[in-house]
Amino acid sequence: MNVSHPLFQRSCTLLKSTQLSSKTYQQEYVFPELAKISKPGQFVQIRVSAEYSPLLPRPFSILNVNANQGTLTVLFKIFGEATEILSRKLEGETVEILGPLGNTFELNRIKKLFLVAGGVGIPPIYYLLQTIDMPRYDISLFLGAATKDDLFLREEFNNMDIEKSFSTDDGSYGTKTLITVPLEDALKRGFSSSKACILSCGPMPMLAEVQRLAQKYKVEAQLSVETIMACGIGICQGCVVPLHGNTKDAKKYTLVCVDGPIYSRDELIL
Ligand SMILES: Cc1cc2nc3c(=O)[nH]c(=O)nc-3n(C[C@H](O)[C@H](O)[C@H](O)COP(=O)(O)OP(=O)(O)OC[C@H]3O[C@@H](n4cnc5c(N)ncnc54)[C@H](O)[C@@H]3O)c2cc1C
Ligand code: FES
Repeated sequence: MNVSHPLFQRSCTLLKSTQLSSKTYQQEYVFPELAKISKPGQFVQIRVSAEYSPLLPRPFSILNVNANQGTLTVLFKIFGEATEILSRKLEGETVEILGPLGNTFELNRIKKLFLVAGGVGIPPIYYLLQTIDMPRYDISLFLGAATKDDLFLREEFNNMDIEKSFSTDDGSYGTKTLITVPLEDALKRGFSSSKACILSCGPMPMLAEVQRLAQKYKVEAQLSVETIMACGIGICQGCVVPLHGNTKDAKKYTLVCVDGPIYSRDELIL
């Protein structure tokens, strides 16, 4: 699924920062070159500070772009130092952003979409839904998270005229279960496998279960992996994930930052 496209790096001004919950922020930046060409599934690397620490940029999925206004929007949860610094940025301040990085979801010939996302894997699925002509597809959406606060953009998804299932680990929103449970229920009900595909983004254990279910019910899948990354451009080897086809003597790996983040159903050992 490798793609080549222009890459831009520039200092981007923060236009708007919105706190969505105690640890979640949505931020809109000026980045006209990227807004013209980015596609769902791609991500950016943000260097949050010009200071020595944190030295490395951090990867964030593209939540949306506005090509007319030349803006890029990301949504993030505070995990550590970089996301904490980012959350404190004020409108008018700048950060260094590189992108668009990575490959994109491919919808050729697909009519039935099972969209499955967990936690910070939700943004790329939201971006996809913003760009496609929804009535052309039969869409079933499955969103899971630890708590209600981590089920980002609930209202926006609820306003979409598509079939939806929500779940949380603590039962604070939707069903108290793993999101792969309602996914399996839907797969059991049947679908036209030649035109169906699961598109999924989220934590590794969720992706591993999505991969297992996709293989069991013989449906294609595109899995977007959010590994820990450092350079984001194929130099540091910090984002390796093993590939199928490994032998005792030769192991095969992929660099998620340059080959991914999206892989087809059977490519990765999850
Ligand atoms: C392709 C891609 C897209 C991403 N998109 C988003 C997004 O849209 N929104 C968002 O909130 N986050 C996203 N992430 C995760 C985000 O990059 C990390 O949360 C961020 O780098 C943490 O930086 P930090 O300095 O705040 O925390 P750090 O101090 O770097 O990390 C804090 C803790 O989180 C762990 N951690 C860091 N990155 C990850 C990761 N990728 N997976 C699991 N654990 C991790 C670290 O091991 C550490 O325990 C994405 C990651 C990738 C690879
Ligand atoms: S993050 Fe450095 S090689 Fe992928």
